[in-house]
Amino acid sequence: MVSRKPLVAGNWKMNLDVEGARTLAREVLDRVSRFRGVEVAVCPPFVLIPEVVRVMEGSAVGVGGQDVSTEVKGAFTGEISGDQLVSVGCRYAIVGHSERRQYHFESDELISAKVKRALAVGLTPIFCVGERKDERVAGRTFERVERQVTVGLAGLDAAAMASVVVAYEPVWAIGTGDVATPAQAQEVHEFIRGLLVRMFGQETAAATRILYGGSVTAENAGELMGQSDVDGALVGGASLKSASFGAIVEAAGV
Ligand code: PGA
Repeated sequence: MVSRKPLVAGNWKMNLDVEGARTLAREVLDRVSRFRGVEVAVCPPFVLIPEVVRVMEGSAVGVGGQDVSTEVKGAFTGEISGDQLVSVGCRYAIVGHSERRQYHFESDELISAKVKRALAVGLTPIFCVGERKDERVAGRTFERVERQVTVGLAGLDAAAMASVVVAYEPVWAIGTGDVATPAQAQEVHEFIRGLLVRMFGQETAAATRILYGGSVTAENAGELMGQSDVDGALVGGASLKSASFGAIVEAAGV
């Protein structure tokens, strides 16, 4: 049996200023560095990344961007490239977050290009999928997630897939307090792993980490991550307080 090291990643979204980020990073580092069995990452807003990298330097806590451009360089106003993220010390990039899909109209095809770009520069993409409320109610959860996964990861081979982390984030659970039940999460995670078996083979699918995201808290994290196909968490709101983020990391293992 393959053992997957859990990953707990904090998505700070568009919160904090430079001082707040420095303080939070220091506190997070303080709380999580003793948990060796868990990989931990934080994803600050782009402009705060260098400050957070300075704090995390020499520690096991990784830093990531919340997005990455499909483009290599040049006249793309407002975009941030993968190489730029790497150059300031990032190891991860969140790709295809539902807020990017919703507010910036990112398509599965565009997200696929971002996954490839992240991999090309050596970043670990945290590739997000998840159905909206209306899709769940209509019984279309699997259909939606299947399209996101098959298009988003199209064209990768098993070797590339070994560097990808998937995050299942039902849109209705993000920032709402309406967390998926452990059984709801497990059902979709198992479905995603089945898709990965079909696309990349048993061995790669078994080694891929699939995180759950959407209203994860210190209280519900243990039960969610206790499910056999839930390999960690992508945490928004609860990652902005070191106590709750630290407790989620603790719940992921030792
Ligand atoms: P939330 O956000 O934990 O605040 O629900 C999760 C996410 O958007 O990744």
